[in-house]
Parts: sequence; C-alpha cells; structure tokens
Amino acid sequence: MDDDWICGRLGEDEPWLLGAVHPPIFENSIFTFETVGDLAEAIKDEDEKFVYWRGTNPTVDLAQRKLAALERAERAKCFASGMGAISATISSLVSAGDHVLVLGAVYGPTTQFLRYLEKYGVTHTHISDLAAGDSAINASTRLLYFESPSYMRYELFDIPQVTAWAREHGLVTVMDNTWSTPIFQKPITMGVDLVLHSLSKYIGGHSDLVGGVVCGSAELIRPLARTEYMLYGAAMSPHDAGKVVKGLRTLPVRMAAHQERGLAMARFLESHPAVRAVNHPGLESHPGHELAKRQMSGFSGLLSLELDTDSRPQVAKFLDTLRHFRIGVSWGGFESLASAPALTIEESVRETMGVPVGLVRLSVGLESAEALIEDLGQALETI
Ligand SMILES: Cc1ncc(COP(=O)(O)O)c(C=O)c1O
Repeated sequence: MDDDWICGRLGEDEPWLLGAVHPPIFENSIFTFETVGDLAEAIKDEDEKFVYWRGTNPTVDLAQRKLAALERAERAKCFASGMGAISATISSLVSAGDHVLVLGAVYGPTTQFLRYLEKYGVTHTHISDLAAGDSAINASTRLLYFESPSYMRYELFDIPQVTAWAREHGLVTVMDNTWSTPIFQKPITMGVDLVLHSLSKYIGGHSDLVGGVVCGSAELIRPLARTEYMLYGAAMSPHDAGKVVKGLRTLPVRMAAHQERGLAMARFLESHPAVRAVNHPGLESHPGHELAKRQMSGFSGLLSLELDTDSRPQVAKFLDTLRHFRIGVSWGGFESLASAPALTIEESVRETMGVPVGLVRLSVGLESAEALIEDLGQALETI
C-alpha cells in the first residue's frame, strides 16, 4: 500500500459512502440501536464503535485509519489538539513515582506538561544524548520521549539506536514526528512504540484546524483510548476530521513543494553574510545530514536561522520588514510564517532552551521560492 493511495483512497470504497469522492461529515452526536442489548455490546468498545461522538465517529474513524496506515501502525487515535494527544499519551504511560527521560529539545508545552506532572509525583530529566541517559536512568524510569528533528534547532537523533537503547532498558519510546510528517519519516518502522503528531501543522496544511493523533500498537493505544482519551475528553470533532482527510489528499505533493522551497531558502540564507547559522537537516553542512539520509526520505519547510545580531530591536526590524512571510505562531500551513522566540517567550524559558536572541524560525509555505528569497534578501539588508 503506497502513501499516495492511503492519502487518497484508503477506507473510501465502503458502501455507506455511496461513491462520494469526499466522505460526508457525520455530525450526529449519538447513534441509536435496535435493542438495548446491541447498545450494551457496543458500549463495551465505546472508543471504537459508533455510540457517542466523544468515543469515536465514522469521519474521525476514517482519518484515524489513514493516519495509522501512513505511520505503519496498527491503530491511531485522534484528539482535539496535538497537546491533547501528547498529554493523554504521557499520562497513560506513567504512574506516581515514575520517571521520564526527555532526549533533546522538545516542544515547550510538552516540557511544561512534564513539569505539571510533578504534582502527581512523576519526575523527568532532560538529556542531550544517550550517554547522558546512561547516568540519568534509574529503576523508576518508564518512558523516553523525543523529537527528531528536535525543536527549534532541528538536531537529529539516530532513531534505531535510540529505540534499541530504550528496549535494552525496558523503556517505552514516544516520538513527536510532526516536523517530518509520515510522508518523510516512519519512526514505527525504526522501533518507536508511539508516534505523535500535531495535525494542526502540515497534515491539516491549511491553517484551519487544530488536532492531534497518536499512532502505535493496538496493545498500547487501547488502554489510552479507553481511559485518558475518554476521560479527559479531548475528542476530535468530525468537522476537523473531514479537514484532516482533505489535508491528507494533497499531503504528498505539498510536502514535495515545502521541501523544495525550504531547501532553496536554507541555501540562500547559508550564503548570506548577515546570517550566522542556518538549522536545516537537508543542508550538507548540517551535522545530522548523513543520518537524515538514512532515516528520512525528505525534509519539510520548517527551519531556523541565526541572524548576525544579538539586538532585539534589530531582530524585530528584520521580521517587521518581511512582506511575504507573515508574522505568526504555528507552522506547516500553505502560508509562509516567521517568528522570533526571543521576542515572544519568557526569558528564563529562552535560556533553558538555549535559543539565541537572533534566532528566527521560518515556516516556508507554498509561495514561489523566488519571491520568498527576494523577501528575505530585502529584510536582511536591515541587519
Ligand atoms: C512539535 C510540536 N508538537 C506538538 C505541538 C502541539 O500541537 P497543537 O498546537 O496542535 O496542540 C506543536 C505546536 O506548535 C509542535 O510544534
């Protein structure tokens, strides 16, 4: 089964779809049954059978089947946001007294959530590599959480090596694969147990939805679907699931276009005198480039550059001078976006994350590469 077919056709030949080229959105909150016995039977599997929308729904189910197939997972469960998926997944794997290892830089609110869990007696340690993991691991460690490429700096970890180390120590591995999308990287085939995505980025692709998903074995997904998913109640709406299905239709071609434009931007910036560094694993100069070629089949359009300045007003001027790149949070949509964490996050968080003042994040959209390069060029003249 190839990815194009999964994105475009999987699950869409069912008789109830009546040949509709795009599936209907099931807006009903409940389903009714012939007999109370039928209801009693269905309610036992409320996270999989069509009973009540908070459990699941045919449109959500279709999106889940496609996402599971793309990640080569047995099952996927969609949530109302990426954070909904992250918090439910981590909660499902730990109990009071447990310890979590976090490898490399991860999305800020993921770390905030781990700090929040401290009030329930769950601790965590940040490690920069597996050698540090050897010292930080203890008898209570249950889980290894990471992103590859990592957050903001796009550092790569050798996924088969990480999962082999985790298996040796009896840890469950959870990886956020939002940067690459399943089109360019399939962590489950490299031994990762659970893979997370914010669907709000490339998979949705049109900046018109917020959603999340966790993919993995039925054995790991079932307990979290029946408890954390059902009880926290961060269910995806069928309308958003319809948008996920629509986003998936064009995901492979959009990713090819994001890759081409992202690399064009990275190469242009790398040769510019007002830029100290460019963080993009597709560049030959990136320390993880050879590893990237082994474990990824492509690169998205999210990168960061470090301006040759430590002046906040100059960084602000650079952003405010951009014309095609709009200023905003999030990433992965059709539109090009720029942001400067030093100007928007708390100073202590910036320091903990090791983000330089001159770091600018670019989400390269689908506009022409020439126009985007020209835009960056004119804004760099302010530095
Ligand atoms: C890498 C990464 N993971 C997860 C999330 C959280 O996703 P959501 O905003 O859909 O909750 C984000 C959001 O920016 C992200 O960048």
